[in-house]
Amino acid sequence: MDVEEVLKLADDLVFAKTGKHLNHLQEGILRGTWQRQKYPEIAKTCHRSEPHVKKVAAKLWKLLSETLGEDINQSNFAYTVERWQFSNTGNNCVQIGKISCDPSHYLKGSLSTVLDNDPLNRKTSNTEPKIHLDLSDAPEPNLFYNRTSELTTLKQWILENRTRLIAIYGLSGIGKTALTLQLIPQIQQEFDCIIYRSLRNSPPLQTLQTNLIQFLCMGDAPVPAPAEERTIARGFPLLEYLRSHRCLLILDDLQTIFTPQQLAGNYRSGYENYSTFFKQLTESSHNSSLILLSWEKPREIAALEGENRPCKSLQLNGLGPEAQEIFKEKGLAEPDRWLELIDLYRGNPLWLNIIATAIQDLFGGSVSEFLSYKPLFLGDIESLLQQHFEILTESEQQVLSWLASTPAPADISKITENLQLSPPEILKVMQSLGRKSLVETVKQNDRSHFSIEPAVIEYLKLQQI
Ligand SMILES: Nc1ncnc2c1ncn2[C@@H]1O[C@H](COP(=O)(O)OP(=O)(O)O)[C@@H](O)[C@H]1O
Ligand SMILES: [Mg+2]
Repeated sequence: MDVEEVLKLADDLVFAKTGKHLNHLQEGILRGTWQRQKYPEIAKTCHRSEPHVKKVAAKLWKLLSETLGEDINQSNFAYTVERWQFSNTGNNCVQIGKISCDPSHYLKGSLSTVLDNDPLNRKTSNTEPKIHLDLSDAPEPNLFYNRTSELTTLKQWILENRTRLIAIYGLSGIGKTALTLQLIPQIQQEFDCIIYRSLRNSPPLQTLQTNLIQFLCMGDAPVPAPAEERTIARGFPLLEYLRSHRCLLILDDLQTIFTPQQLAGNYRSGYENYSTFFKQLTESSHNSSLILLSWEKPREIAALEGENRPCKSLQLNGLGPEAQEIFKEKGLAEPDRWLELIDLYRGNPLWLNIIATAIQDLFGGSVSEFLSYKPLFLGDIESLLQQHFEILTESEQQVLSWLASTPAPADISKITENLQLSPPEILKVMQSLGRKSLVETVKQNDRSHFSIEPAVIEYLKLQQI
């Protein structure tokens, strides 16, 4: 969908509601927002003051929200429009917010070039290539800051290196889902089909495959013949679809199919075929990509990944100084102490949001007052960390407790000296804790030393009381 189509769509919606067309400034706001510009830039382009642009924009978002029956604002506008575009119900009817209608009537044909009944949108049609997008399982995108380098890396892996399997892993709340949703609009034009699914209910692979194939078959994607299925996809018919169309598949919450109380990335009984599927998907030849989002790095990734290989992993760390925007948005005081706060909570955006709310609730926004209280406050972060600790092995817990009680980062030999675990056991545990993002590594005299972050130390202390 290009910007003119977006403007036409918005104009149709506003006209249907008010009987008036968009004025020049309203168009400028939508055009800028679609191009991911912020208000100062839009104000400059439209030759108006920023406060005036913001005032007009606030009214416009309100109007669009009322028209569509869902909350529209500057940060979700582009995403919501993209969602409208793909919410084709399959019977020449388009679902726009709460409105379901025949696009040729309601949109006066503005969408007729981008909607049809062919979800896989075979390029035989003389309309522009279209994408079959299903983000119905994904959360609504929210405010999003930075992550420029991660987005650049992911785009390079997918578009230039044609990486087939990417694992993004990190603690809950670190921003894996948000990052991936942000990536989609930036690469979607390269794909025939984009599907997001959460594995939160731990579907067996067979169920997931059936669900995805049903979706892909809504058009007339070729259904592989059984014999072909067996020989080409060796039991994974989904691979056949990923081969015949360029698809981007995102599987979130992969940790739900790992065995609790075992070292990282160990599949639950009955789910081991996921590992075989990922391996085949990486090794066979096709142009599709699969992104896995998980608390833990899946085990087979280590064997498959490499600089020149079609499998890569990205350990997602917290936000840097840009996370100050979260505190600005929450109206915290004393910006000169914000970086300290970001460092203490390692830039985890979910934790920073939780802490910012606590600082407002308890100290009226005063960061210095909050920081003067020791020990480090966890509040609702405690229950988030609990979920990570519940699934640790005893040896992992033992190592973390020892690291929490040690003031300086320790190397492997120091850990081995101090714990009743065999050296091979320690090595396995340290690797697993790294794959679960629960230890930090620093280089001292060219040797890796391990430590744990302040919130995890505080969590462990609370458990010992
Ligand atoms: N770059 C970011 N800027 C601002 N907020 C973010 C960013 N990344 C994530 N968040 C917010 O942090 C919270 C957790 O992010 P999410 O992507 O759900 O984490 P994860 O998938 O790793 O558990 C969400 O409320 C999300 O909106
Ligand atoms: Mg997530």
